[in-house]
Amino acid sequence: MKRRNEETGLPLKRETFSTSLTVFFATLGSAVGLGNIWKFPYMTGMNGGGAFILVYLLFVLLLGIPIMLSEFYLGRKTRSNAVGVFDKLKAHRFWKIIGYMGLLSALLIMFFYSTVAGWVYAYVFRALKGDFRFLKNLGLEEARAASEGIFTDTLTGVSPMIWQAVAVLVVAVILIGGVKKGIERVTKTLMPVLLLLIIISAVRALTLPGAGQGLAFLMKADFSALTGSSILAAMGLAFFKLSLGMGTMVTYGSYFNKDNNLMGTSFKVAFSDVAVSMLAGLAIFPVVFTFNLAPEGGPGLLFQTIPLVFSMLPFGNVLLTAFFVLTAIASTTAMLSMVEVPIAILTEELKMKRRLAVILTTSLMFLVGVLTTHPDAVFGTVEVAGKNLFDLFDYLSSNLLLPLGGLLITLFVAYFTKKESIREELTNGGEIGNGKFVDALLFVLKYITPVLLIIVFLNALGILSL
Ligand code: PHE
Repeated sequence: MKRRNEETGLPLKRETFSTSLTVFFATLGSAVGLGNIWKFPYMTGMNGGGAFILVYLLFVLLLGIPIMLSEFYLGRKTRSNAVGVFDKLKAHRFWKIIGYMGLLSALLIMFFYSTVAGWVYAYVFRALKGDFRFLKNLGLEEARAASEGIFTDTLTGVSPMIWQAVAVLVVAVILIGGVKKGIERVTKTLMPVLLLLIIISAVRALTLPGAGQGLAFLMKADFSALTGSSILAAMGLAFFKLSLGMGTMVTYGSYFNKDNNLMGTSFKVAFSDVAVSMLAGLAIFPVVFTFNLAPEGGPGLLFQTIPLVFSMLPFGNVLLTAFFVLTAIASTTAMLSMVEVPIAILTEELKMKRRLAVILTTSLMFLVGVLTTHPDAVFGTVEVAGKNLFDLFDYLSSNLLLPLGGLLITLFVAYFTKKESIREELTNGGEIGNGKFVDALLFVLKYITPVLLIIVFLNALGILSL
């Protein structure tokens, strides 16, 4: 297949997703990931439950959706990668910094994300082997301790590094297939499976004795637990969850079909993503309270709770395997979109062959990731500002780079772009009668999104107190 004309240097013939349904599954595949199943529950647990969720929802509405739409607009309008967008729009070259920061975020996130994805793959394997079966013969206390022991064991030695390699390799193989044969084919087959599995898991957990307490924890809004840093964390989570602020949605948007309704897609994706997070919370918190685990258990929460709930039930091992398979699917489809940001930049800006770009990027992500994010790795115990590198990458990307990228994208679209161009793209040239929504969006983008972002930053820095 000839991808570009060497002599004339004409632009690449770019691939697009086939239909609006496959656009939805691919984009939801990017949004739904470890963020919903691993991060959302433990962050909610650590930050006091319902109140944190409310603030998070506010950020999804006032920052998430407007920024997602801005990214879709930039991508589909220019059909370009996160750096190339700004050349196409003849913008000042300063704005390319958005693309370069996106590259950096993609790397930082992949370093730790692929590590956690490796744990998930390891759990799929362990569940298949029946490693969790014995839990059902133990009392509550012993079972809890045993489950914690299995988690610690999974993080120890070289095996987590090998599983990380497997997780990255799967992503690389899919991405080499390209947009249609790789990303689209995998997401449209696996996303429906994931949605079904998460619903089954939540329903199952809701029949446990601790379900009432778990629900109460999710619904109870205790605002006294909210601090400047937990508000910042909620904002960071909104960016991370919806894959915003680093050009992922610019890149995916550049593959959308022409008649896709961008507004519709952004609402559907944001809504479904929140629904999946809530389902994950519903699957996990009843277990936490049934087994007397600490809701603020941190990053190990998912791995310690889920085996407990399922191993005690009839067909538990099948359900347990299914749950980790669904988590593996979610993490894989999210990584596809993360890695696609550098791939699109390398193939289009540097005219690199896709296969080479995939191999280079994923190798770098794996190598640095494996050397830095495991307690037993060469740099595993290095600390910067009191954080190990795993936490540092996570903190810097979610709480700093993504919101900063989001702020720049908002400012660019709100203040340096012609309104008519945005209107044209969001109404598909006047075909969709959503003019009022576009007006509302433009208002929010100009006056609400950037102001809110800056307030949260200042508040977290202690300069302003909410
Ligand atoms: N949204 C993904 C998740 O929640 C993570 C992600 C972040 C994906 C940034 C792409 C870009 O797991």
